[in-house]
Amino acid sequence: MALETGLDILAKARAGQYGIGAFNTNNMEITQAILEAAEEKRSPVLVSLSEGAIKYGGRPLIDMVIHESKQASVPVSVHLDHGSSYESCLQCIRWGFTSVMIDKSHEDEDVNTKETARVVEAAHAMGVTVEAEIGRLGGVEEHVVVAEEDAILTKADEAERFMTNSGADYLAVAIGTSHGANKGKGRPFIHHDRILEIAALLPHPLVMHGASGVPAEMVEKFNSNGGELKDASGIHEDDVRKAVTEGIAKINTDTDLRLSFSAVVREILVNDPKQFDPRKILGPAREAMKQIVADRLDVFGSTNKA
Ligand code: G3H
Ligand code: 13P
Ligand code: ZN
Repeated sequence: MALETGLDILAKARAGQYGIGAFNTNNMEITQAILEAAEEKRSPVLVSLSEGAIKYGGRPLIDMVIHESKQASVPVSVHLDHGSSYESCLQCIRWGFTSVMIDKSHEDEDVNTKETARVVEAAHAMGVTVEAEIGRLGGVEEHVVVAEEDAILTKADEAERFMTNSGADYLAVAIGTSHGANKGKGRPFIHHDRILEIAALLPHPLVMHGASGVPAEMVEKFNSNGGELKDASGIHEDDVRKAVTEGIAKINTDTDLRLSFSAVVREILVNDPKQFDPRKILGPAREAMKQIVADRLDVFGSTNKA
Protein backbone atom coordinates (compact mmCIF):
# COMPACT_ATOMS: atom_id res chain seq x y z
CA MET A 1 0.00 0.00 0.00
CA ALA A 2 1.01 3.66 -0.31
CA LEU A 3 3.35 4.97 2.36
CA GLU A 4 1.75 7.03 5.11
CA THR A 5 3.24 10.23 6.48
CA GLY A 6 4.91 10.12 9.87
CA LEU A 7 2.15 12.32 11.31
CA ASP A 8 -0.65 10.03 10.00
CA ILE A 9 0.83 7.23 12.07
CA LEU A 10 2.06 9.22 15.09
CA ALA A 11 -1.02 11.39 15.70
CA LYS A 12 -3.11 8.21 16.15
CA ALA A 13 -0.49 6.85 18.53
CA ARG A 14 -0.41 9.96 20.73
CA ALA A 15 -4.23 10.04 20.84
CA GLY A 16 -4.41 6.32 21.61
CA GLN A 17 -1.51 6.37 24.10
CA TYR A 18 0.64 3.79 22.37
CA GLY A 19 4.15 4.12 20.97
CA ILE A 20 5.40 3.66 17.40
CA GLY A 21 8.81 2.16 16.77
CA ALA A 22 11.17 4.00 14.42
CA PHE A 23 13.93 1.51 13.61
CA ASN A 24 17.13 2.44 11.78
CA THR A 25 18.17 0.38 8.77
CA ASN A 26 21.40 0.12 6.79
CA ASN A 27 20.81 -2.92 4.59
CA MET A 28 18.37 -5.53 3.26
CA GLU A 29 18.47 -7.82 6.29
CA ILE A 30 17.68 -5.04 8.79
CA THR A 31 14.88 -3.73 6.55
CA GLN A 32 13.33 -7.19 6.25
CA ALA A 33 13.61 -7.75 10.00
CA ILE A 34 11.74 -4.49 10.71
CA LEU A 35 8.99 -4.98 8.13
CA GLU A 36 8.43 -8.70 8.74
CA ALA A 37 8.12 -8.14 12.50
CA ALA A 38 5.72 -5.22 11.97
CA GLU A 39 3.56 -7.32 9.64
CA GLU A 40 3.50 -10.30 12.01
CA LYS A 41 2.56 -8.03 14.92
CA ARG A 42 0.05 -6.09 12.78
CA SER A 43 1.80 -2.90 13.88
CA PRO A 44 2.43 0.40 12.10
CA VAL A 45 6.13 1.26 11.93
CA LEU A 46 8.63 3.91 10.79
CA VAL A 47 11.70 2.76 8.88
CA SER A 48 14.50 5.28 9.46
CA LEU A 49 17.55 6.06 7.35
CA SER A 50 20.27 8.32 8.72
CA GLU A 51 22.51 10.39 6.44
CA GLY A 52 25.24 7.89 7.33
CA ALA A 53 23.04 5.02 6.14
CA ILE A 54 22.27 6.89 2.91
CA LYS A 55 25.98 7.51 2.32
CA TYR A 56 26.69 3.83 2.98
CA GLY A 57 23.89 2.29 0.88
CA GLY A 58 23.16 4.98 -1.71
CA ARG A 59 20.28 4.71 -4.16
CA PRO A 60 20.12 0.88 -4.05
CA LEU A 61 19.41 1.04 -0.30
CA ILE A 62 16.93 3.92 -0.57
CA ASP A 63 14.99 2.34 -3.44
CA MET A 64 14.91 -1.06 -1.71
CA VAL A 65 13.65 0.45 1.58
CA ILE A 66 10.91 2.45 -0.15
CA HIS A 67 9.89 -0.47 -2.38
CA GLU A 68 9.72 -2.98 0.48
CA SER A 69 7.91 -0.51 2.74
CA LYS A 70 5.23 0.01 0.06
CA GLN A 71 4.74 -3.77 -0.19
CA ALA A 72 3.94 -4.04 3.53
CA SER A 73 0.35 -4.72 4.59
CA VAL A 74 0.66 -2.41 7.62
CA PRO A 75 1.05 1.41 7.70
CA VAL A 76 4.69 2.38 7.10
CA SER A 77 6.47 5.71 6.81
CA VAL A 78 10.03 6.02 5.51
CA HIS A 79 11.83 8.61 7.64
CA LEU A 80 15.06 10.61 7.47
CA ASP A 81 16.73 10.42 10.89
CA HIS A 82 18.75 13.46 12.10
CA GLY A 83 18.69 15.37 8.81
CA SER A 84 21.43 17.98 9.02
CA SER A 85 20.25 20.47 6.40
CA TYR A 86 17.36 21.78 4.30
CA GLU A 87 19.04 20.30 1.21
CA SER A 88 19.32 16.86 2.78
CA CYS A 89 15.63 16.87 3.80
CA LEU A 90 14.53 18.04 0.34
CA GLN A 91 16.61 15.38 -1.39
CA CYS A 92 14.97 12.67 0.73
CA ILE A 93 11.50 14.03 -0.02
CA ARG A 94 12.32 13.89 -3.76
CA TRP A 95 13.41 10.27 -3.32
CA GLY A 96 10.01 9.43 -1.77
CA PHE A 97 10.49 9.66 2.01
CA THR A 98 7.24 10.55 3.79
CA SER A 99 8.77 11.89 7.01
CA VAL A 100 11.94 13.90 7.64
CA MET A 101 13.75 15.07 10.75
CA ILE A 102 15.58 18.37 10.63
CA ASP A 103 17.98 18.37 13.57
CA LYS A 104 19.31 21.81 14.38
CA SER A 105 19.22 21.14 18.11
CA HIS A 106 22.90 22.12 18.44
CA GLU A 107 22.05 25.67 17.22
CA ASP A 108 20.43 28.38 19.34
CA GLU A 109 16.63 28.49 19.45
CA ASP A 110 16.37 31.26 16.86
CA VAL A 111 18.43 29.44 14.21
CA ASN A 112 16.80 26.10 15.06
CA THR A 113 13.34 27.68 14.62
CA LYS A 114 14.17 29.41 11.31
CA GLU A 115 15.87 26.37 9.77
CA THR A 116 13.09 24.05 10.92
CA ALA A 117 10.39 26.41 9.56
CA ARG A 118 12.08 26.41 6.12
CA VAL A 119 11.98 22.62 6.00
CA VAL A 120 8.38 22.52 7.28
CA GLU A 121 7.19 24.90 4.55
CA ALA A 122 8.74 22.85 1.75
CA ALA A 123 7.86 19.45 3.25
CA HIS A 124 4.22 20.34 3.88
CA ALA A 125 3.89 21.64 0.31
CA MET A 126 4.93 18.14 -0.81
CA GLY A 127 2.72 16.25 1.65
CA VAL A 128 5.53 15.20 3.98
CA THR A 129 5.61 15.72 7.75
CA VAL A 130 8.50 16.90 9.89
CA GLU A 131 10.24 16.02 13.15
CA ALA A 132 12.37 18.63 14.89
CA GLU A 133 14.39 18.65 18.10
CA ILE A 134 14.99 21.10 20.89
CA GLY A 135 17.26 20.33 23.83
CA ARG A 136 20.31 18.09 23.58
CA LEU A 137 20.78 14.37 24.11
CA GLY A 138 24.06 12.89 25.35
CA GLY A 139 25.90 10.09 23.52
CA VAL A 140 27.03 9.73 19.91
CA GLU A 141 25.25 11.68 17.15
CA GLU A 142 26.48 11.22 13.59
CA HIS A 143 29.80 10.10 15.12
CA VAL A 144 30.15 13.27 17.20
CA VAL A 145 30.35 12.52 20.92
CA VAL A 146 28.09 14.80 22.96
CA ALA A 147 29.48 14.79 26.50
CA GLU A 148 27.12 14.28 29.46
CA GLU A 149 27.69 17.85 30.62
CA ASP A 150 26.65 19.14 27.18
CA ALA A 151 23.34 17.31 27.28
CA ILE A 152 20.49 19.72 28.07
CA LEU A 153 16.98 18.66 28.98
CA THR A 154 14.21 20.12 26.83
CA LYS A 155 12.38 22.96 28.59
CA ALA A 156 8.59 22.91 28.28
CA ASP A 157 8.11 26.64 27.60
CA GLU A 158 10.85 26.66 24.95
CA ALA A 159 9.36 23.56 23.36
CA GLU A 160 5.94 25.21 23.13
CA ARG A 161 7.37 28.40 21.58
CA PHE A 162 9.55 26.37 19.20
CA MET A 163 6.67 24.24 17.92
CA THR A 164 4.37 27.25 17.50
CA ASN A 165 7.00 29.24 15.58
CA SER A 166 8.50 26.41 13.50
CA GLY A 167 5.29 24.56 12.57
CA ALA A 168 6.97 21.16 13.03
CA ASP A 169 4.70 18.14 13.44
CA TYR A 170 6.45 16.04 16.10
CA LEU A 171 9.16 16.88 18.57
CA ALA A 172 12.25 15.04 19.77
CA VAL A 173 12.83 15.83 23.43
CA ALA A 174 15.88 15.42 25.65
CA ILE A 175 14.58 13.79 28.82
CA GLY A 176 17.51 11.64 30.00
CA THR A 177 18.11 9.21 27.13
CA SER A 178 21.26 9.16 25.00
CA HIS A 179 22.41 7.50 21.79
CA GLY A 180 24.57 4.37 21.71
CA ALA A 181 25.23 1.37 23.96
CA ASN A 182 26.49 3.26 27.04
CA LYS A 183 23.61 5.28 28.38
CA GLY A 184 24.96 5.83 31.89
CA LYS A 185 25.83 3.83 34.97
CA GLY A 186 23.14 1.36 35.97
CA ARG A 187 19.58 2.24 34.99
CA PRO A 188 19.59 5.65 33.27
CA PHE A 189 17.32 8.17 35.02
CA ILE A 190 14.42 9.24 32.82
CA HIS A 191 12.84 12.60 33.67
CA HIS A 192 9.20 11.57 33.54
CA ASP A 193 8.18 14.83 35.22
CA ARG A 194 9.70 16.69 32.27
CA ILE A 195 7.82 14.59 29.70
CA LEU A 196 4.58 15.35 31.53
CA GLU A 197 5.36 19.10 31.64
CA ILE A 198 6.08 19.20 27.90
CA ALA A 199 3.07 17.03 27.01
CA ALA A 200 0.77 19.28 29.06
CA LEU A 201 1.66 22.21 26.77
CA LEU A 202 2.00 20.38 23.46
CA PRO A 203 -0.58 18.17 21.69
CA HIS A 204 2.09 16.99 19.22
CA PRO A 205 3.51 13.47 19.26
CA LEU A 206 6.76 13.50 21.29
CA VAL A 207 9.82 11.52 20.22
CA MET A 208 12.24 9.55 22.37
CA HIS A 209 15.67 9.18 20.74
CA GLY A 210 18.30 6.95 22.28
CA ALA A 211 15.65 4.52 23.50
CA SER A 212 17.44 1.20 22.97
CA GLY A 213 17.22 -1.32 25.80
CA VAL A 214 20.70 -2.78 25.13
CA PRO A 215 19.59 -6.31 26.19
CA ALA A 216 22.01 -7.95 28.64
CA GLU A 217 21.86 -11.32 26.82
CA MET A 218 23.01 -9.67 23.57
CA VAL A 219 25.87 -7.86 25.35
CA GLU A 220 26.84 -11.23 26.88
CA LYS A 221 26.68 -12.99 23.47
CA PHE A 222 28.75 -10.20 21.91
CA ASN A 223 31.40 -10.22 24.65
CA SER A 224 31.62 -13.99 25.01
CA ASN A 225 32.43 -14.28 21.32
CA GLY A 226 35.41 -11.95 21.32
CA GLY A 227 33.61 -8.58 21.46
CA GLU A 228 34.61 -5.84 23.84
CA LEU A 229 31.63 -3.82 24.94
CA LYS A 230 32.11 -2.44 28.44
CA ASP A 231 29.67 -0.68 30.79
CA ALA A 232 26.78 -1.25 28.38
CA SER A 233 23.44 0.11 29.58
CA GLY A 234 20.06 0.85 28.03
CA ILE A 235 16.66 2.33 28.79
CA HIS A 236 14.51 0.13 31.02
CA GLU A 237 11.33 -1.20 29.37
CA ASP A 238 9.24 0.16 32.23
CA ASP A 239 10.55 3.67 31.52
CA VAL A 240 9.56 3.31 27.87
CA ARG A 241 6.08 1.99 28.78
CA LYS A 242 5.56 4.84 31.25
CA ALA A 243 6.85 7.48 28.79
CA VAL A 244 4.28 6.28 26.24
CA THR A 245 1.45 6.95 28.70
CA GLU A 246 2.93 10.44 29.23
CA GLY A 247 3.01 11.59 25.58
CA ILE A 248 5.94 9.84 23.85
CA ALA A 249 4.57 8.49 20.55
CA LYS A 250 7.73 7.73 18.52
CA ILE A 251 10.51 5.58 19.95
CA ASN A 252 13.83 5.33 18.11
CA THR A 253 15.90 2.15 18.10
CA ASP A 254 19.18 1.57 16.32
CA THR A 255 21.70 0.24 18.86
CA ASP A 256 19.65 -2.88 19.76
CA LEU A 257 19.58 -3.92 16.09
CA ARG A 258 23.30 -3.26 15.57
CA LEU A 259 24.16 -5.13 18.74
CA SER A 260 22.03 -8.18 18.03
CA PHE A 261 23.28 -8.30 14.42
CA SER A 262 26.92 -8.18 15.53
CA ALA A 263 26.47 -10.57 18.47
CA VAL A 264 24.92 -13.26 16.27
CA VAL A 265 27.47 -12.82 13.48
CA ARG A 266 30.28 -13.12 16.05
CA GLU A 267 28.71 -16.24 17.58
CA ILE A 268 28.39 -17.98 14.21
CA LEU A 269 31.91 -17.12 13.08
CA VAL A 270 33.38 -18.30 16.39
CA ASN A 271 31.32 -21.52 16.66
CA ASP A 272 31.43 -22.52 13.00
CA PRO A 273 34.88 -21.57 11.69
CA LYS A 274 34.31 -23.42 8.40
CA GLN A 275 31.25 -21.32 7.57
CA PHE A 276 31.65 -18.85 4.72
CA ASP A 277 28.16 -18.72 3.18
CA PRO A 278 26.85 -15.16 3.84
CA ARG A 279 23.28 -16.47 4.00
CA LYS A 280 24.15 -18.81 6.88
CA ILE A 281 25.70 -15.86 8.73
CA LEU A 282 23.29 -13.02 7.91
CA GLY A 283 20.11 -15.15 7.98
CA PRO A 284 20.30 -15.91 11.73
CA ALA A 285 21.31 -12.28 12.38
CA ARG A 286 18.15 -11.19 10.56
CA GLU A 287 16.05 -13.57 12.71
CA ALA A 288 17.57 -12.17 15.91
CA MET A 289 16.85 -8.57 14.83
CA LYS A 290 13.29 -9.53 13.86
CA GLN A 291 12.75 -10.92 17.38
CA ILE A 292 14.13 -7.70 18.92
CA VAL A 293 11.74 -5.59 16.81
CA ALA A 294 8.77 -7.85 17.61
CA ASP A 295 9.45 -7.72 21.35
CA ARG A 296 9.78 -3.95 21.27
CA LEU A 297 6.52 -3.49 19.35
CA ASP A 298 4.81 -5.35 22.21
CA VAL A 299 6.50 -3.07 24.77
CA PHE A 300 5.48 0.06 22.84
CA GLY A 301 1.87 -1.16 22.67
CA SER A 302 1.53 -0.88 18.87
CA THR A 303 0.84 -4.60 18.32
CA ASN A 304 -2.55 -4.99 16.54
CA LYS A 305 -2.85 -1.22 15.93
CA ALA A 306 -2.41 -1.53 12.13
O1 G3H B 1 20.88 8.56 16.13
C1 G3H B 1 21.68 8.07 15.32
C2 G3H B 1 21.38 6.76 14.71
O2 G3H B 1 21.75 5.72 15.58
C3 G3H B 1 22.03 6.65 13.36
O3 G3H B 1 23.40 6.45 13.48
O4 G3H B 1 24.38 8.14 11.93
O5 G3H B 1 25.69 6.10 12.63
O6 G3H B 1 23.75 5.88 11.08
P1 G3H B 1 24.37 6.66 12.19
P1 13P C 1 19.75 4.14 20.18
O1 13P C 1 21.22 4.41 20.02
O2 13P C 1 19.37 4.10 21.64
O3 13P C 1 19.29 2.93 19.46
O4 13P C 1 18.97 5.40 19.56
C1 13P C 1 18.83 5.51 18.16
C2 13P C 1 18.28 6.82 17.75
O5 13P C 1 17.86 7.65 18.53
C3 13P C 1 18.22 7.08 16.30
O6 13P C 1 17.79 8.38 16.02
ZN1 ZN D 1 18.52 9.85 17.38
